[in-house]
Amino acid sequence: MEKLNIDKIINLCKTKGFIYPGSEIYGGLGNTWDYGPLGIEIKNNIKKEWWRQFIQCSENSYGLDAGILMNPRVWEASGHIQSFTDPLMDCKNCKTRHRADNLVQDYAQKHNININADGMSLEQLDEFVTEHKIVCPNCGNHNFTSIRKFNLMFETYRGVTKDNQNIVYLRPETAQGAYVDFLNIQRSMRTKIPFGIAQIGKAFRNEITPGNFTFRTVEFEQMEHQWFCKQGSDEKYYDYYKQKGMDFISSLGIKKENLRYKDHEKLAHYAKNACDIEYLFPFGWGEINGTHNRTNYDLKRHQEFSGKCQDYLDPVTNEKFIPYVVESTYGVERLILALLCDSFDTETLEDGTTRDVLHLSPKMAAYKVAVLPLMKKEHNDKALDIYKKLCHYFPCTFDDAGSIGKRYRRQDEIGTPYCVTVDFDTLNDDTVTIRDRDSMEQIRIHINDLPKYVLDKLI
Ligand code: GAP
Repeated sequence: MEKLNIDKIINLCKTKGFIYPGSEIYGGLGNTWDYGPLGIEIKNNIKKEWWRQFIQCSENSYGLDAGILMNPRVWEASGHIQSFTDPLMDCKNCKTRHRADNLVQDYAQKHNININADGMSLEQLDEFVTEHKIVCPNCGNHNFTSIRKFNLMFETYRGVTKDNQNIVYLRPETAQGAYVDFLNIQRSMRTKIPFGIAQIGKAFRNEITPGNFTFRTVEFEQMEHQWFCKQGSDEKYYDYYKQKGMDFISSLGIKKENLRYKDHEKLAHYAKNACDIEYLFPFGWGEINGTHNRTNYDLKRHQEFSGKCQDYLDPVTNEKFIPYVVESTYGVERLILALLCDSFDTETLEDGTTRDVLHLSPKMAAYKVAVLPLMKKEHNDKALDIYKKLCHYFPCTFDDAGSIGKRYRRQDEIGTPYCVTVDFDTLNDDTVTIRDRDSMEQIRIHINDLPKYVLDKLI
C-alpha cells in the first residue's frame, strides 16, 4: 500500500469539516486547531467510549470534573513549577527559538550517533551543540544563546492586579484534580481501596516546537484514569492498565500492527515505571497513551504542601497508609489523528476508478447514516421524513445534490458507514436500500427496521 502523506489527511480534515487551523482568518495561532462539525462528533464518540470502558463498565471507578484553574500550590506540590520544563535556546542571528534536545537528537540521528537527548542535562546539551557546531534550522548559523529551562505551564492572573501574588496556571494535566479530590471521593462515595478516579478535560502546555498537525498542540483534551491501590499491588495494576490501554485503543478500530509499547528510558519526576503506547503516524511513531506507576509521590507531596493528612484508613485492618497510584492517560486529539490516518485509504475499484474512503468503525464515524433521495423532486419529502426519524437515534446527514454515485463517494470520504437511498419502490412499500460503505453491497429493508439495523452495529 502507498505510504500515506499527512498532507492528504490535513486537506481532508479542512475541506470536509473535521479540523480547521485555529483563528485562520487572522493568520492562525501556532499549534492551535478547531474541530469542525465532523471532528467534534468523532471527539465525542471517543470520549463516550472511553467513559463507558473506564467508568460505566469498570468496577469501582468514579468520574470527576475538577477545575482547570487550581490553587497554585497544587503545581508546587506536583513538581510542575520546578520540573515541567523544556531546554530552550535562541538563535542570536535570526532570533528564532529552538528546543535544544530536539536539535541535538536530530543531529545525532542524521550522523548515526547513538545518544538519548531526552536524558541529557543542560550542560551536556550545551557541550554537544558547541562540539558539533550544530546550526540553526532556520538560518544555518551556529550562534546560539546558552540553553535555559523554559516552563511549559501557561500563567495567567486571578483578580484585578497582575502581580506574582495572583498568578494562577492553566492546568498542564488533569491528573492533579483527582489527587486533590481523592479523599473527597473516597469518603463521599463510601468506597474502599482499590478504586479509580477518571476525568476528561482540557490541558494546556506552552509548546513551541512545530506540532505535526494536531499531534502537538498547546491546548488539548486528556482522558485520565487514576487507580488508587495499596503498595505491593501497584506492579500488578501497572501491567493491567498497560494491557487495558492497548485493548481500548484497538477497540476504537486502530490496527494492532500500527501500535507498539515503548518503555520510558527517562522517567518523569513522579514515576517508578512508565510505558507509552505509540502509533505509527505518517511522520513516524508518536505517543498516544501512557501508563505510569506514580507511586504515592503525588498524594505525599499534597500532604506535605497542604498540611492535610492524605492517609487512607483500611476499615478491615485499621492500617493507615497513603495509596499508590497507577495512571492511564490518553490524548483525545492524538487518538483522532491516529483514527483518521489508520482508516484512510485510496482504493481502486473493479471498474478502474478510485475512491478515498475512511474505514471508521460505525461507532467512531461522525454520521452513522446518510439519507439520499434518488430523485430530488419525487423522493425528497419521503427521504426527509426518514432522515428526521433517524436523527432521534444517531447523527445522520442528508444529501440530495449530484448523482447518486457522487453522493456515495462523498459519504465514503467522510467515513459514513451506511447510505440509505429512497427510490420509487419506497413510495409504494416503505422499503429502502441500505449500502454498506466497505463492501459497497446493498440490501433492501423496511424503513421501520432501519433504527435497529444501525443501532445493532453501534454496540
Ligand atoms: N498525567 C500524565 C500526563 O499528562 P503526558 O504523557 O505528559 O502525561 C498524557 O500526557 C497524554 O496527553 C499523552 O499520551 C498524549 O496523548 C497527550 N498529550 C500530551 N501533550 C500533548 C500535546 N502537546 N498535544 C496533544 N496531546 C498531548
